Amino acid sequence: MDKILFITLFTIVFSLFSSSASAQWTTIVNGTKWTDTDGNPVYANGGNFLHKDGVWYLVGEDRSKPWMPDVNLYSSTDFVHWTFEKKIIRNRVSHPDLGRRRMIERPKLLFCEETQKYVVWCHWEARDYSASEAAMFECDSVNGDYQYVWSGRPMDTKSRDCNVFVDNDGTTYFISTTDENTNLGLFMLMTDYRHVFTKTVLCEGMRREAPAIVHIDDTYYMISSACTGWDPNQAKLTTSHNLHFGWTPLRNIGDRIAYDTQASSILTINGTEGTTYLYVGDRWMDPSLAESKIIILPIEWRNPETGDVAHQKDENHPEMVLNYRDSFDIDFERGVWRE
Ligand code: GAL
Repeated sequence: MDKILFITLFTIVFSLFSSSASAQWTTIVNGTKWTDTDGNPVYANGGNFLHKDGVWYLVGEDRSKPWMPDVNLYSSTDFVHWTFEKKIIRNRVSHPDLGRRRMIERPKLLFCEETQKYVVWCHWEARDYSASEAAMFECDSVNGDYQYVWSGRPMDTKSRDCNVFVDNDGTTYFISTTDENTNLGLFMLMTDYRHVFTKTVLCEGMRREAPAIVHIDDTYYMISSACTGWDPNQAKLTTSHNLHFGWTPLRNIGDRIAYDTQASSILTINGTEGTTYLYVGDRWMDPSLAESKIIILPIEWRNPETGDVAHQKDENHPEMVLNYRDSFDIDFERGVWRE
């Protein structure tokens, strides 16, 4: 009897231990087109990820019709197997001008606590980029038909390439390339996410686009690109202790063409053993717009004195660096990654 009890207990403990020790590494492979669970290509560039109630959502441009992108939504519980949910915003359906006088680029998905609605902010543009507008859509469910709420120039500002940034205190911003690609505009969203109500000019005169911001400890980090259309260029980093002022001069990060990517976001993977930050970039025109890829790289941290590079940020490794990885493993539960 004792022996049976011992064997049973041993089996339970062993299986618990082995599942927690082994099953949690997820391998992320770069350079190939993702396919969804039906075996179709994942068309979701220029977008972002939202993690809610244990599910990852990926929203992005469907460039299978290169110059008339609908907005696609995918979901996944493991970040590797992506189920196509729906075209949440559709040309000629979601708005009479969409697919005619306007197209959507860089759709960004948010969840608004106040309205309990899912929201998409995006670049709302004419084919020749003369409109320079933004737009906002919302929906009661993540995978419903998103309803048009607003489009125009935020605070009368010509606005192109865009992103959103949710600060650690929940304050949410729309950030875009403004004034004919001259500046960046950081616009605070009202708590219903329907309108912007303040504007701060960042990177004045520096002609930056594709801005991706993350807030780590007491520092904001922003990676952005120059404005060279679909061609990649040198990504640059600036940091500040305050979102609205005090940003450092731009410095190079990654190689001279950002490993053939343009930033779309920086994800925070906060786990039980650490926090990993993932750089998400678009590899546009690879070789066609439809074949554009999503590239994900683990951000690394350098010690400025020794040059030593670590996986996690700590007081000895404060400098953000970006290296290429054909693939790497990440444990989302523990917030750690390995080669
Ligand atoms: C890029 C921009 C893309 C798209 C493209 C068109 O600079 O990041 O979102 O607008 O130009 O050429």
